[in-house]
Amino acid sequence: MSITSDDGTLQTELFEMLSDAGIDDPYTEIEHILGCVDSDSTQGTRERALELARARASGTPLGYVIGRQRFMGIEIAVAPGVIIPRSETELLGWETVIRIRESHGASGFGARVIDMCCGSGNLACGIARALPHAEVWASDLMENCAALTHHNARRLGLNERIHVYHGDLFEPLPLHYAGHYDIIVCNPPYISTHGLRQRDELLRHEPRVAFDGGPYGVSLYQRLVREASRFLKRGGWMLFEMGEGQTPHIERLLTRAQEYDKVELVADRRGEFRVAAVRRSLNH
Ligand SMILES: C[S@@+](CC[C@H](N)C(=O)[O-])C[C@H]1O[C@@H](n2cnc3c(N)ncnc32)[C@H](O)[C@@H]1O
Repeated sequence: MSITSDDGTLQTELFEMLSDAGIDDPYTEIEHILGCVDSDSTQGTRERALELARARASGTPLGYVIGRQRFMGIEIAVAPGVIIPRSETELLGWETVIRIRESHGASGFGARVIDMCCGSGNLACGIARALPHAEVWASDLMENCAALTHHNARRLGLNERIHVYHGDLFEPLPLHYAGHYDIIVCNPPYISTHGLRQRDELLRHEPRVAFDGGPYGVSLYQRLVREASRFLKRGGWMLFEMGEGQTPHIERLLTRAQEYDKVELVADRRGEFRVAAVRRSLNH
């Protein structure tokens, strides 16, 4: 049996299930669920739609229920064990694209980009899709993240330009371009261990390693700032996402680091600084 959007009874059942569970926008979510079942011919059944809605009603994030998330205009496959890309991270992705276009032209000709802490590969794929002549090296501590990034790159036909690694920060990256990467983009874990205790809803479905930034939330930034300069070319930029209210900590950290000569902060639509861009000094 195939499910169509004019199956009113099913729609009503789904609506009741999702709105009873307190889902904010049940109509949009029903559309996603039906779209997902429709496009999956082997499981195109009414029962499957109800099963997905039940999972959603019990609190499973929509991305895990339907197995995908839109990011920078493309569809990213997501899976349990890997953080679901957030729309707020698009600011970091597009800011990176803008800077590469400024230095390498509209297609990013010859640009070498590192996506550190790549998760599902959302930034690597979004950037590679927007810049058809840029090359991306994506890495994550977790093997399942690297595997999902590889899967996304292949699905999107970007695998020739996205090279995937896994290991601790820069450790797995090949050294032959060390000192010659144009841009590093990174959305690291940045919530303090203590802060995370008060946001335990995050850990109900997604992995701690994606959020826990150590005692003050800045452990990964400290390491990034220290270790990135070995990979960035002189005059190259590193851009990373910051948590709300983290600006003073980050500014302090960057002022202490000698290797960078420019710091620029980018605000989101609400005026909150969410992206920091730092330039590796021309002299260091
Ligand atoms: C906030 S998530 C960002 C994922 C993805 N870039 C995104 O925007 O959705 C942080 C990622 O950093 C990875 N990570 C944590 N510690 C790491 C480390 N020491 N080295 C490399 N990756 C790390 C986590 O596995 C997780 O995928």
